[in-house]
Amino acid sequence: MHLCAAGGRHRGHGRLQHPPPPAPRPHLRPRRRRVLAERPAAGGDAARAAQLAADGQPARRALEGGAQEAARDAGEAAERWGCDGMRWDAMGWDEDGMRIRMLRRGAPRTHRGVFSAPQAQYHRRFGKIFRMKLGAFDSVHIAAPCLLEALYRREGACPQRLEIKPWKAYRDYRDEGYGLLILEGKDWQRVRSAFQKKLMKPGEVVKLDAAINEVLEDFMYRIDEICDHNGQMEDIYSEFNKWSFESICLVLYRKRFGLLQQDVEEESLNFIKAVKTMMGTFGMMMVTPVELHKRLNTKVWQAHTKAWDDIFKTAKHSIDCRLQKHSASPQEDLLCDIYSGGQLSKKELYAAIAELQIAGVETTANSLLWALYNISRNPHVQQKLFQEIQRVLAAQKSPSAESLRNMPYLKACLKESMRLTPSVPFTSRTIDTEMVLGNYVLPKGTVLMINSHALGCSEDCFRGWAEFRPERWLQRGSIHPFSHVPFGIGKRMCIGRRVAELQLHLALCWLIRKYQIVATDHEPVETLHSGILIPSRALPIAFRRR
Ligand code: HEM
Repeated sequence: MHLCAAGGRHRGHGRLQHPPPPAPRPHLRPRRRRVLAERPAAGGDAARAAQLAADGQPARRALEGGAQEAARDAGEAAERWGCDGMRWDAMGWDEDGMRIRMLRRGAPRTHRGVFSAPQAQYHRRFGKIFRMKLGAFDSVHIAAPCLLEALYRREGACPQRLEIKPWKAYRDYRDEGYGLLILEGKDWQRVRSAFQKKLMKPGEVVKLDAAINEVLEDFMYRIDEICDHNGQMEDIYSEFNKWSFESICLVLYRKRFGLLQQDVEEESLNFIKAVKTMMGTFGMMMVTPVELHKRLNTKVWQAHTKAWDDIFKTAKHSIDCRLQKHSASPQEDLLCDIYSGGQLSKKELYAAIAELQIAGVETTANSLLWALYNISRNPHVQQKLFQEIQRVLAAQKSPSAESLRNMPYLKACLKESMRLTPSVPFTSRTIDTEMVLGNYVLPKGTVLMINSHALGCSEDCFRGWAEFRPERWLQRGSIHPFSHVPFGIGKRMCIGRRVAELQLHLALCWLIRKYQIVATDHEPVETLHSGILIPSRALPIAFRRR
């Protein structure tokens, strides 16, 4: 894959036209800079960075013909937000293993014990757009509001993310359907529209507050039960996952799995274990050919297949019970209402619901943990938040979707936390047509990595980015909307966004009202990118009853 200047003419509306066949199409292949294959003479990373910067290929402003014109409207936003002068750098992972080391260990420390995204470090070195090759995996990384806005404006009807081949392989193997995470084209559009009506409509989502509160109430008892005398939990990550699992299952299946009880049923434990195994095995088959795993029937393939079998078995059983129960009045139930619309087959419903559930467990638990961590390290923020909750909620009264309308500071706290520590640090797009982005023409098929964590750690977008300052979200118009995209962008953005926000806002109300969240140490916590943003160690927080 390479960037090339389109040799086409531009015929109105920013569309690129290719030249007639005989005309040679000039390719401006970015010169692969020799320095990348060399080691810096001395001085490690700093010297290397300086050398790379000095050697930086100048922004390629001389796009030809149509591309230039098309680039102009992409550049409009850039002008507004001062987003020019991008640099393109080709990088290989074999230079000195530095990048790989950084990915494993997290990025170098910045000030105040806050760590910025590994990708943010690359963007600081290589600019707002750069290309990265990791073995055979070739991708273009972007982290600038103007580029995201340009991408959004050029988005087709059915945007595509990077393929999750192991998931598709399982579905084809067992003749199961595809859900929203892996569907493409018209099928994706149809399934998306069936769910969109229920999951993205604020008026529909607010109705879920009672179910979410029911689980939160149990979670408060559970925290009391499992915390030691210092208010600390042994396996905080797993406990928060149980909460989010129970919460999303009640929303989707109207069924309690009993994960917050002391004696958890075998079926529920198997289900949660299956999700863990499935998530833990698919990564390997993303970097080695899944077809090979399947043909050789490797242990990874066997474990992955068995895990999906268990997930589908439980999901199908729960869905069938639901459909049966509400067959007379399907509109009373979220799932039955969607199915009764007639847009989906049963097979598609099973797959879509199973994927909604998978997408909504770790992400939500992880976001809540990061929010509590950030709040624990900023006691003045916590105090202000506590005061807002007290002011809005009468004693003993459960929070509701309605009461959240009067809690701007609480919403700002979550936004600020998702800026600094977004549980999904990046998303991707595989572009289905040649596209001009910034000063470059990207060929069809280019994989774009949208680095939302890097955006949140950018001084250009957020002055004093390393500070946890919810107040910044309360100043109108000061933040470019495309600089904060923790749920992705455009037509393919997270469909569970509103449900997740409601869960998280309500959870913060319950937790901050009942507990003071205390930082048990002030050592830095590194952020590691592993599809999801995970802390390098158990988050050092404790829950003290108020
Ligand atoms: C804080 C919690 C969550 C975060 C940070 C999050 C983030 C994301 C992101 C970044 C994407 C990719 C969007 C894109 O490519 O533009 C995504 C997609 C998706 N999310 Fe979430 N998510 C969360 C919770 C949930 C929940 C609760 C559900 C289910 C109810 C869910 C279901 C999905 C689905 C199905 C997709 C794929 C949508 C499609 O391709 O049409 N997510 N999410």
